[in-house]
Amino acid sequence: MSASLATVSYIGATILFILSLGGLSNQETSLRGNLYGMVGMTLAVLATVFGPSVTAAGIPWIVGAMLVGGGIGLYAARTVQMTQMPELVALMHSMVGLAAMLVGFATYVDPNAAAGFVGAAKTIHELEIYIGIFIGAVTFAGSIVAFGKLSGRIGGNPVLLPGRHFLNLAGLLVVVYFGREFLHAETLAAGMTPLIVMTVVALLFGVHMVMAIGGADMPVVVSMLNSYSGWAAAATGFMLSNDLLIVTGALVGSSGAILSYIMCNAMNRSFISVIAGGFGTVNAAAKPAAGAVQPAGEVVAVTASETAELLRDAKNVIIVPGYGMAVAQAQHTVFEITRLLREKGVNVRFGIHPVAGRMPGHMNVLLAEAKVPYDIVFEMEELNDDFPDTDVAMVIGANDIVNPSAQDDPGSPIAGMPVLEVWKAKTSIVMKRSMASGYAGVDNPLFYKDNNRMLFGDAKKMLDEVLVALKT
Ligand code: TAP
Repeated sequence: MSASLATVSYIGATILFILSLGGLSNQETSLRGNLYGMVGMTLAVLATVFGPSVTAAGIPWIVGAMLVGGGIGLYAARTVQMTQMPELVALMHSMVGLAAMLVGFATYVDPNAAAGFVGAAKTIHELEIYIGIFIGAVTFAGSIVAFGKLSGRIGGNPVLLPGRHFLNLAGLLVVVYFGREFLHAETLAAGMTPLIVMTVVALLFGVHMVMAIGGADMPVVVSMLNSYSGWAAAATGFMLSNDLLIVTGALVGSSGAILSYIMCNAMNRSFISVIAGGFGTVNAAAKPAAGAVQPAGEVVAVTASETAELLRDAKNVIIVPGYGMAVAQAQHTVFEITRLLREKGVNVRFGIHPVAGRMPGHMNVLLAEAKVPYDIVFEMEELNDDFPDTDVAMVIGANDIVNPSAQDDPGSPIAGMPVLEVWKAKTSIVMKRSMASGYAGVDNPLFYKDNNRMLFGDAKKMLDEVLVALKT
């Protein structure tokens, strides 16, 4: 493939990636968005493999690596549960970081890569390597710790070292100092020492940054590491002089940053403190262990047939799904109930919290899979004011996202987080297996409100019973 054809293919792939991101921003166009992304990536890979920078001798190596990588990816995609997605994503980000590190070292020791760079161009080339390895190492180490925390291999509590901000600052100064040494190094061997020292500091910084973050704030961390992995890929693009990698990395980096910002708003966190690391820890010490919640009043339990009765008598129903619906895989029964109620003239809508479940868009994906019509699925802010006019708010396996203490208790670990105000409905029904707390490990006063009912049991099993009761 000629260089100009490869360039044209790269431009085509770039346009397809942008169209893909645009498509993914809306449920109705997300399928098309995915298709654009797949075609763009195929084009990008073909143009790279058959482009001018790869020799014929290199192709079997690339194909072999793609088969191994593709095989692992296919296996992971088939076996990983939807609820394990965040940890898989964290692991994938670590791969991007590791790749950026390895490409950085390989570029530095490759005499061909350095050939032709003199004077200012040589300094810029070495700066790209230094920064690329730094971002890659931070992303790699941070993502590994995030994976450990999300998969429960590492404890979720924040690890706060004394004087941690000074430690970070000292680390940064060391990185800057050794960066200067690296740029002034006369030989390859002389440059290797500062490069290795910086890499070790960057790895420690990545570990330290994510270890300091509490479990409840991990979603923002994953999205932030997504952004870092984009910048790591962009840095790799600079090292390899690959324009497409630079553009794609920048797209991932900036869209990850925008997503982090949106999630920060949804969880009432400051974006700056997220970037600095160690955020969301002020109240974390006061957080009780998950599941260790003490009852704070009386709860009223209902049966599936009583729930069906309430639903049958309602005119307006809002369903709020959460992590438990994903665990129970109850979305198909939810759809059946929705269809039945709508046939009976009940106005059924869905209220989706931005961090419901365990990954951005988790609930939207499940509801789309169950074929729930898009036009009755609303964002939190679109229908939060409608609860006072709602007869039944049905909470399915959600907890933190409907916790009134986020508004009422300034000392709560989730204080200030916007929540769905289900308690303002005439009746709210919470469907869960026990009185256990949710992800943030905090008690939920909603359960004890006079107009709240608890339907205890596995969400799928209970909804199946509700469906049977509705049909009879
Ligand atoms: P949670 O607060 O985690 O509550 C889920 C509830 O579902 C639990 O209290 C659990 O109670 C119940 N449950 C579990 N399995 C169930 C089953 N089989 N049937 C019925 N109920 C079941 O979930 P949420 O309200 O969706 O809030 C999300 C939380 O996760 C937030 O704190 C958020 O910050 C965090 N988080 C979000 C993300 C993203 S990006 N969405 C990523 C990571 C973390 P029982 O055990 O009593 O059944």
